[in-house]
Amino acid sequence: MTNIHLEITGVNMDFPTPKGSFRALENVNLKVQKGEFVSIIGHSGCGKSTVLNIVAGLYQATAGGVILNGKEVRDPGPERAMVFQNHSLLPWLSAYENVELAVKTIFKGKKSKAEMKEWIEHNMQLVHMEHALDKRPDEISGGMKQRVGIARALAMEPEVLLLDEPFGALDALTRAHLQDSVMEIQADLGNTMMMVTHDVDEAVLLSDRIVMMTNGPAATVGDILDVEIPKPRERLAVSESKEYNRCRHEVLRFLYDRHGKKTKEATHSDLDLVADKKIETENWVVSINKSKDKVA
Ligand SMILES: Nc1ncnc2c1ncn2[C@@H]1O[C@H](COP(=O)(O)OP(=O)(O)OP(=O)(O)O)[C@@H](O)[C@H]1O
Ligand SMILES: [Mg+2]
Repeated sequence: MTNIHLEITGVNMDFPTPKGSFRALENVNLKVQKGEFVSIIGHSGCGKSTVLNIVAGLYQATAGGVILNGKEVRDPGPERAMVFQNHSLLPWLSAYENVELAVKTIFKGKKSKAEMKEWIEHNMQLVHMEHALDKRPDEISGGMKQRVGIARALAMEPEVLLLDEPFGALDALTRAHLQDSVMEIQADLGNTMMMVTHDVDEAVLLSDRIVMMTNGPAATVGDILDVEIPKPRERLAVSESKEYNRCRHEVLRFLYDRHGKKTKEATHSDLDLVADKKIETENWVVSINKSKDKVA
């Protein structure tokens, strides 16, 4: 693989817990090329957010590490913007000011005040939030907060955009619109993207590769799928292609098989995740049935 932008090597992550050390990740390895879109998919609690947090520099791996542009990642940096699973806006600032804070940090001395204003408004328009610029986080819905978080990350024009289930709380139409925006933005900027998702269709539509993680404890990369659908992708045409259905099937099979194993091996520490998994598994079973229908 040429032109490697980001390299995760031999990453272990142990969390201290009252019952002793808990190994969330073991020997996670991944090389990501510049401009590549990589999705991470796996069951709830397997360690997807932990991987992203390590790449963001928010967590330090217990063993191994991350190299970005040839340098070891030790801290967060402006070249890596993250959209968190649970939106993380400053509650005392308006939606506009939350984005402005990030934009000022990145573009100070490079953009004039007027240019910054225009840039913030442009990014807010991308996520359809231009009508709520002056609202504070406690005055808008969860999905709207998530959209502001996405606008803030996009406005930073990061080299690497880290997205942790960015569209999870959004209605289907807004979700589709934002997925399209993210594809367009990536085509324009050529930035590297790593996205955690539970949504198989979203992973196939957006990704160059899908990283499928095994269940925890000691989760790792179970398999990596290349999505060989040419870009730019148009969702309707893509959804009818053979390659789309092949990829969808591969991911579903991986998740479904792993879940089967997991149910037999479930441990006490997994019990709090069982409810989540049950719902997801039901969705996946439904999806498998749907895709069987399509193939037939
Ligand atoms: N700070 C922490 N302290 C202790 N355990 C943690 C901590 N953060 C995560 N874990 C554990 O590590 C494992 C992986 O967590 P993580 O949040 O990365 O999972 P995930 O794949 O993102 O799950 P979800 O899909 O539900 O968001 C889980 O078992 C979780 O309970
Ligand atoms: Mg998570």
